[in-house]
Amino acid sequence: MNKSITTRALSLIGATALALGISTGAAAQEKVKVGFMLPYSGTYAALGNNIEEGFRLYVEEQGGKLEGLDIEYFKVDDESDPSKAPDNANRLIKRDQVDVLVGTVHSGVAMGMAKVARDTNTLLIIPNAGAGAITGPLCAPNIFRSSFSNWQPAYAMGLVAAEKFGHKTAVTVSWSYAAGDESTGGFKEGFESKGGKVLKHLSLPFPNVEFQAILTEIANLKPDAVYVFFAGGGAVKWVLDYAAAGLKDSIPLYGPGFLTDGTLEGQGKAAEGLYTTLHYADDLDIEKDRQFRAAYEKRFNHAPDVYSVQGYDAAQLLHAGLKAAKGELKNRDAIIKGMRAATIDSPRGTFTMSRAHDPIQDMYLRRVEGNLNKFVEVAVKSLEDPARGCRMK
Ligand code: PHB
Repeated sequence: MNKSITTRALSLIGATALALGISTGAAAQEKVKVGFMLPYSGTYAALGNNIEEGFRLYVEEQGGKLEGLDIEYFKVDDESDPSKAPDNANRLIKRDQVDVLVGTVHSGVAMGMAKVARDTNTLLIIPNAGAGAITGPLCAPNIFRSSFSNWQPAYAMGLVAAEKFGHKTAVTVSWSYAAGDESTGGFKEGFESKGGKVLKHLSLPFPNVEFQAILTEIANLKPDAVYVFFAGGGAVKWVLDYAAAGLKDSIPLYGPGFLTDGTLEGQGKAAEGLYTTLHYADDLDIEKDRQFRAAYEKRFNHAPDVYSVQGYDAAQLLHAGLKAAKGELKNRDAIIKGMRAATIDSPRGTFTMSRAHDPIQDMYLRRVEGNLNKFVEVAVKSLEDPARGCRMK
């Protein structure tokens, strides 16, 4: 038979089936389009990379498919720039037609993504950004977080600084954007609830790293302790500068674990002995974590960090939803129900979702020893974000 006639006949059948909304089998969607919107440049570049690696590792461990569905990836570098967030998110949703948006690191960018996700009813899984608004006023059935809220590790550190270390006064320092404001605010809440007093909050614009004036002011204020929110490249520089200014031995430095996670190679001895709080540590006595760390190192030739874990768990969360929907991508209600009800077997320890879709999880106190954030003790068990302003039931 004439080949072009056959092709034309087949495409006509396909077009007719499509017009009638009939699935011809081959036309049915058998893959999930995942859109990574992450920082692949700038101070948070390493964080974005590790989130993607963690996500991919989980999918690869499932044989490249989740609930029988192939996974196709799309990527956008969000540059940690909130002003570009709506365009970047819309590019993945409208041009690439992704089924699920996975991102991002920076709270300001994530808030932009959350607004687009709400407007377009796109499934959004946030594998880092801790913005309180996302599990607060912006909470929505289609928005989930596999990481933490900025409040969680910060509040835990405030309790620990006052109760365990007995500090009475502190100065807080951060970049002046949602994550920095909320992290230092969470610390203050915990610290002052136990009788401590935050003397002053010092800040600088994201992602500036000209810390000299702030270090001078800390030396003048002489608080009992300093709590900072910095991450990625900025955290490396802060820890180096703090030690170089001669403050490390006189005024103890604390932070959420981002201060020393994925950064120890660059910080070297300047980080030795620092205490931080986080939902992960490098030597947890958890079998799932041992397996995860070995598989990750083998696959990517470097150690995982908290960001790798959060990426891995974003994929686990999506899988839980797809399992509940028996692989039927169109069954959004079942996917969301499955994600809400999931118990995630995370390398950090198992966790469940709060009503606002944020992990309810243990906060660990860790101490830097060599190139590891070593587990010290559980600082707060099963800490749930208060979800202030979230109206979702
Ligand atoms: C945030 O912007 O929410 C953020 C960024 C980097 C971190 C943690 C939180 O390591």
